[in-house]
Amino acid sequence: MSAVIETKNLTKIYGEFHAVKNLNLKVSEGEVFGFLGPNGAGKTTTISMLTGILHPTKGSVHLFGENLSDDYFNLKRRIGVVSEQQYMYNKMTACEYLSFFADLYRVKNKKRKINELLKFVELYKYKDKKLGEYSKGMRQKISISRSLVHDPDILFLDEPAYGLDPAGVKEVRDIIFKEKDNGKTIFMSSHILSEVEKICNYAGIIDKGVLVKKGAMDQLKKASSPGCELEIELVEVKKKIIESLKKLPFVVDVEVVKNNKNILRIKAPDEKNRAEISGCIFENGGAITGMSTKKATLEDAFVEITRGEVK
Ligand SMILES: Nc1ncnc2c1ncn2[C@@H]1O[C@H](COP(=O)(O)OP(=O)(O)O)[C@@H](O)[C@H]1O
Ligand SMILES: [Mg+2]
Repeated sequence: MSAVIETKNLTKIYGEFHAVKNLNLKVSEGEVFGFLGPNGAGKTTTISMLTGILHPTKGSVHLFGENLSDDYFNLKRRIGVVSEQQYMYNKMTACEYLSFFADLYRVKNKKRKINELLKFVELYKYKDKKLGEYSKGMRQKISISRSLVHDPDILFLDEPAYGLDPAGVKEVRDIIFKEKDNGKTIFMSSHILSEVEKICNYAGIIDKGVLVKKGAMDQLKKASSPGCELEIELVEVKKKIIESLKKLPFVVDVEVVKNNKNILRIKAPDEKNRAEISGCIFENGGAITGMSTKKATLEDAFVEITRGEVK
């Protein structure tokens, strides 16, 4: 599949400080790409360069195969941006606000489009309320509607869930899912790992301006060494069982849980190893009374990567 977003050695330097350093990234059509990183990692700086708000010090951005700096005005029409900071006209109603942006983009059938968007984000019944009276979650949904008013092909969202309550986070997530189903490519940044895990099928991890990992979400999860952790409860834990389990070629680690001497915690690359593990316990005279599996989360990978590999 062709890349709709591609950066080559994208760099932003402030004085001596590299906010973003040699970023090489490709996002294909229809992907929901999560740009993950701790605060100050360079996410907003990158999104600002991807959307033409900020000029790179070095390197390039191509959208739909075209160089952003050569064809800015045409490309700008094909992207929607929800920035970190919401600049809103508090005295305008939702309808007036969207109408203002629809005029900027010369949207045809403006009224129909605005009503459609307000229904899409479930704010139609508040359409004549002033934005100053909206809650933070409602404002975020209006920002998203505003970014969609000209029906862009790519949507850039900078920390879309930041500062929202759990209900707001879920609503924004559902909107992103619906936009994905509408065929849009989505590039969202976040420092909230669980959000990226829930929403995105591809992700990149940025730390101190450097892209330290990228790939399909499944692959990224596997990148953190122990793929899954099994907790197996036995009637009695015998030394022989532990020793035999440790000899299994795929077993990474076996330990007895500190506060329950009848539970073994076993690290293995894959959930599929469960059958062989329980077989080994059975062969060594063990009786299993319970088993649970914990898959490696992106959080494990994220913590490992940002603590370990990056200097
Ligand atoms: N205009 C600027 N001048 C100097 N440093 C900046 C400027 N903008 C951002 N930075 C620095 O670049 C780094 C990355 O910032 P940012 O992209 O906002 O990070 P993130 O969005 O991941 O939290 C931070 O250390 C920030 O202080
Ligand atoms: Mg930011």
